[in-house]
Amino acid sequence: MSKDTLTIVDNRTEKTYEVPLFKGAVRAMDLRQIKVNAEDFGVMTYDPAFMNTASCQSSITFIDGDKGILRYRGYPIEQLAEKCSFLEVAYLVLFGELPTASQLKEWETEITLHTMIHESVKKFMAGFHYDAHPMGMLVSTVAALSTFYPDAKSVLDPKVRRLQILRLIGKMPTIAACAYRHRMGYPIVNPDNDLSYTANFMNMLWRMVEPKFVANPVLARALDILFILHADHEQNCGTNAMRAVGSSQADPYLATAAAAAALAGPLHGGANEEVLKMLDEISTVDRIPAFIEQVKGGKGRLMGFGHRVYKNYDPRARIIKQTAEEVFKVTGRNPKLEIAIELEKIALSDEYFIKRKLYPNVDFYSGIIYQAMGFTPEMFTVLFAIPRTAGWLAQWQEMITDPEQKIARPRQIYTGHWIKEVVPIEKRG
Ligand code: CMC
Repeated sequence: MSKDTLTIVDNRTEKTYEVPLFKGAVRAMDLRQIKVNAEDFGVMTYDPAFMNTASCQSSITFIDGDKGILRYRGYPIEQLAEKCSFLEVAYLVLFGELPTASQLKEWETEITLHTMIHESVKKFMAGFHYDAHPMGMLVSTVAALSTFYPDAKSVLDPKVRRLQILRLIGKMPTIAACAYRHRMGYPIVNPDNDLSYTANFMNMLWRMVEPKFVANPVLARALDILFILHADHEQNCGTNAMRAVGSSQADPYLATAAAAAALAGPLHGGANEEVLKMLDEISTVDRIPAFIEQVKGGKGRLMGFGHRVYKNYDPRARIIKQTAEEVFKVTGRNPKLEIAIELEKIALSDEYFIKRKLYPNVDFYSGIIYQAMGFTPEMFTVLFAIPRTAGWLAQWQEMITDPEQKIARPRQIYTGHWIKEVVPIEKRG
């Protein structure tokens, strides 16, 4: 009868070990017993970019990268994008099940009650340079919230955690809009509690002198769909930062700031801004082949292409492409779409991209919609961070309540000098 174990032979000692498989994985600590002698530390695993290491067990998001499948709590992303609102999906991601009508109403009210920010937070943001990048402002301001809510430190108390979740999801669009208006030199607009989550965000971004801002419903819905698509994506770089920082029991504002900082990088959420820069650089369809050759020659990357997990079309990119058509009916076609579609066509038929299974990811088309809606490229990653806050907090909560989790503290393989004698400074050199 087959056993759920691995048999490992250590050729150094000719000893044999039987290591249990845990849900198809090897527990790295089970390898520590493999030693050449009693003083030996034992075998470790080496995986600098977590290419084949599960850092947790999670029941939030499922991705099948080969088949291009994404599900939150078991629900396919396509159905959630079609049938739900962002706040409904945020509830699902955070609490494990879709809300009933009354639960949703209560949840929306709770979030709405936390959309305002302290006047001192506005003053804090007013101190940023006039052209500060909105992601830098967002990261710093979210970290600064830690100083406003010292109660957040009690991360082991479920009631305290819930309150911070409401605050963070409620305040993220407000902070994002303040960052935008600060750059534009416009006065800050307070939240309007009559509006939906996305319509209120649009109000805080774009209201000028009109007494009541009315968002275009097609654009508000498109933004809601984009938020749904970005709500969670299992153990990506930002989420890993959230869990790692949260594992020290730092409060969730500090952990969320760390996650947002990771998101800001061009290989992660910062890619959506880079895609627009790339499309600007290409500028006309006839220049695409030369650009592709440049990428294949190792000069830069095709931004918005490739993914650590997806080795197939990113299902979010497909939905964004459909949503773009709805948006363009209102805003007119973004001329960059032609370049993007042609770029995708050429890349998907090119041996270099086929061999490496490089397909468009979520960031490839999102910037084109955002730009058509009136967002400047510097805001794109901020638009990613707002909905991802729900996912970060769900993952943080799961980590805090997981009895197997401890402070995240990897090992290293030391490659430096063994031991050296300090030479007095006058004798060095
Ligand atoms: N353009 C050209 N070549 C690429 C690209 C790309 N976008 N992505 C990967 N490759 C090549 C890479 O050069 C390597 O080739 P080789 O085997 O000859 O050395 C091979 O494909 C594997 O790449 P990798 O860097 O080992 O793969 P990874 O899993 O470490 O990186 C990635 C994943 C997303 C960082 C990478 O594909 C990339 O840099 N893409 C562009 C940036 C981007 O669009 N990021 C957004 C990701 S999706 C949303 C998010 O996570 O925020």
